[in-house]
Amino acid sequence: MRVIIVKDYKDMSRRAAKVVANRIGKKPDLVLGLATGSTPEGTYSELIRIHREEGLNFSKVRSFNLDEYCGLSPDHPQSYHYFMYDKLFNHINIRPENIYIPKGDVENANISCEWYEEKIKEEGGIDLQILGIGRDGHIGFNEPGSSLGSRTRIKTLTKETIQDNARFFKKGEEVPRYAITMGLGTISEARECLLLASGANKAEVLQKCIEGPVSAEITASLLQLHPRVMIIIDEEAAQNLRQKDYYQYAEKMAEELEVSQKFGARKK
Ligand code: PGA
Repeated sequence: MRVIIVKDYKDMSRRAAKVVANRIGKKPDLVLGLATGSTPEGTYSELIRIHREEGLNFSKVRSFNLDEYCGLSPDHPQSYHYFMYDKLFNHINIRPENIYIPKGDVENANISCEWYEEKIKEEGGIDLQILGIGRDGHIGFNEPGSSLGSRTRIKTLTKETIQDNARFFKKGEEVPRYAITMGLGTISEARECLLLASGANKAEVLQKCIEGPVSAEITASLLQLHPRVMIIIDEEAAQNLRQKDYYQYAEKMAEELEVSQKFGARKK
């Protein structure tokens, strides 16, 4: 795992957007896994800026979102469909037919889950999966106790998650108790994962995710088994990491190595 510690939310967003832009630059028809929540919002704003000012082209990109609430129609302001169009899709040149988000308002959600898995396969699998992390350690809506091999399915949300998400809903409005989410097995198959986190309220869970045992109790800890994971977090979120100094040192060394390799290549 590559742990990159940056100053604040703004730096995290810039750095993450740069990674995404770089991958699209290398593979214009990238299959991009997307996340919702407050964490990736800044990354999406920065991607919009890069699209507008530097011509980042999304016309061949295909996207799959991690999850969606059950029972909310796509035009509900708190649905993840709405979020994604509002925060990203309406502002870039991605083709609507290349956008995939689990369908949360269908009669038979189980069929919709199977359909989602099939579509990911048909599109060749996810190249880069963006992830946030919940305070209970979830990625997607894979709450504690989720099978580490799980596929896209319906999950009951924990009280903690419902409480955390209530801030996005109007006062008195019911927060959905179920969601469709890609499984941990589904996420593990992404060729690369990019986990983002910002703020002191994520510090405790990040320490467990990065340095604790791999366990269904903190489902994000499964990323320790993934061969290609980049974790971009800010100083506040990194404050509990026991190996923080080492991650910063390793990152500095990696940058130096990159520079010297580039320099070496130029010399030839
Ligand atoms: P947040 O949510 O980005 O709003 O903190 C993260 C998550 O629950 O996955």
